[in-house]
Amino acid sequence: MANNEELFKQIISHAKEYGYIFPSSEIYDGLSAVYDYGQYGVELKNNIKQYWWKSMVQFHENIVGIDSAIFMHPTIWKASGHVDAFNDPLIDNKDSKKRYRADVLIEDHIQKIEDKIIKEVEKAKKRFENFDEAMFRQTNQRVVEYQQKMDEITGKYAQLMGDNDLKGIKSLIEELGIACPVSGTKNWTDVRQFNLMFSTQMGSVAEGADTIYLRPETAQGIFVNFLNVQKTGRMKIPFGIAQIGKAFRNEIVARQFIFRMREFEQMEMQFFVRPGEELKWFEYWKSERIKWHQALGIAPENYRFHDHEKLAHYANAATDIEFKFPFGFKELEGIHSRTNYDLSRHEEFSGKKIRYFDTETNESFVPYVVETSIGVDRMFLAVFSNAYCEETLEDGSTRTVLRLPAILAPIKVAILPLVKKDGMPEKAREILNKLQPHFLCQYDEKDAIGRRYRRQDAIGTPFCITVDNQTLADNTVTIRERDSMQQHRIPADESITFLLNNLVL
Ligand code: GAP
Repeated sequence: MANNEELFKQIISHAKEYGYIFPSSEIYDGLSAVYDYGQYGVELKNNIKQYWWKSMVQFHENIVGIDSAIFMHPTIWKASGHVDAFNDPLIDNKDSKKRYRADVLIEDHIQKIEDKIIKEVEKAKKRFENFDEAMFRQTNQRVVEYQQKMDEITGKYAQLMGDNDLKGIKSLIEELGIACPVSGTKNWTDVRQFNLMFSTQMGSVAEGADTIYLRPETAQGIFVNFLNVQKTGRMKIPFGIAQIGKAFRNEIVARQFIFRMREFEQMEMQFFVRPGEELKWFEYWKSERIKWHQALGIAPENYRFHDHEKLAHYANAATDIEFKFPFGFKELEGIHSRTNYDLSRHEEFSGKKIRYFDTETNESFVPYVVETSIGVDRMFLAVFSNAYCEETLEDGSTRTVLRLPAILAPIKVAILPLVKKDGMPEKAREILNKLQPHFLCQYDEKDAIGRRYRRQDAIGTPFCITVDNQTLADNTVTIRERDSMQQHRIPADESITFLLNNLVL
């Protein structure tokens, strides 16, 4: 069994080998933290987006979608706080000239202590089971010591970050003896703030040009359209506006494949509620969103909530849904109760009233907002890494299979003539023509049938329909199921119904 690092490498290389994800500009040696989606990747991505859009917009009478532009008036980013505060603290190692996020260096250090605690707890358990009391006590003592150390560092770190104390952060890095992974030295520069927004110029001549930004989140496009949508859609509070679109962040440390990218996609929904009702709706969306994830059939132990103890100044509740990626539990989705901060700031900066008149109470107010925000690419990585599986079969052979939830799989069904003769290709194409209007299908007649099944397993196709001699005699086909590899025979004319019944959640 591969260790997690090895497994993650295998997942990345599988994604490339099977046309899911390619490094951007690869023939020019790539562009850091930017990726292209290949022929299967784009399908999986579209299916994720559709699954989200349906659950948000189609299944909620009071949620509508929009598609706002990436470029927006620059004052929006002043109002939202991004110009002044959307920063990461960066630090350089003077010897290797490598740049790091100071907070990530400290968090990685804390993570190492946490890993040690997990190992020691395992050891302690074994010693307890073996009635080795003396050793158990010793190990337990170490767990307590590591835990105290971790709590102390975590507390100090949170305080420094909260106070934006850059000098203090550098001192903590020195105090913890953190060395540059490349040079191995502790020769650090001071910590500086680095704004994550990409900027560009709008206008044909530089002199008259205005600096504009590539949006770092899609949410602001929703806030500035609040009145447009509320009025034209005659929306009554509580209601939501959903959007899927690209976002851009100049991440200092871009790593872990598509987990942290410089160009990525978000699926965000802002739910506008009456003041005072936001915490009730926050709990509602927490529960709705975890249900959405778990409906995909991924084991529940892969998800956990991480409630924020230290809240951003505009939030009065926040949680992350974390997923167990191959490199550990990390944020997949954020759910935030953002109060009326964003709309109020846009009122202030635009000078326009952004109010809702409540006909039930005859009151006018700036609505409060509960936001759900998930990265499409992160969701892709969660689904893809969870689906990747190398298994040894009963006959000792191995197969690589992507156990993707059927609803998200790029190709829903492959149609395979057993051999390339005796009228089987023609019959297979006839079935293909009937299925194509309903599902994304793939026709394949090259190589032995076993190899074709393996190819479909590797791209995650849930079903293969095989046309054989018996098909020509009685118009039945075999359906092979990807995960169990079991086959059964059904009338060819029932293929659509079978697939429709089996490609739902
Ligand atoms: N509007 C709120 C917002 O943008 P966020 O926590 O910064 O909040 C929301 O981002 C989600 O967007 C994250 O939970 C993550 O899934 C995704 N995301 C953020 N930065 C990302 C990046 N650099 N690469 C890929 N996904 C990212």
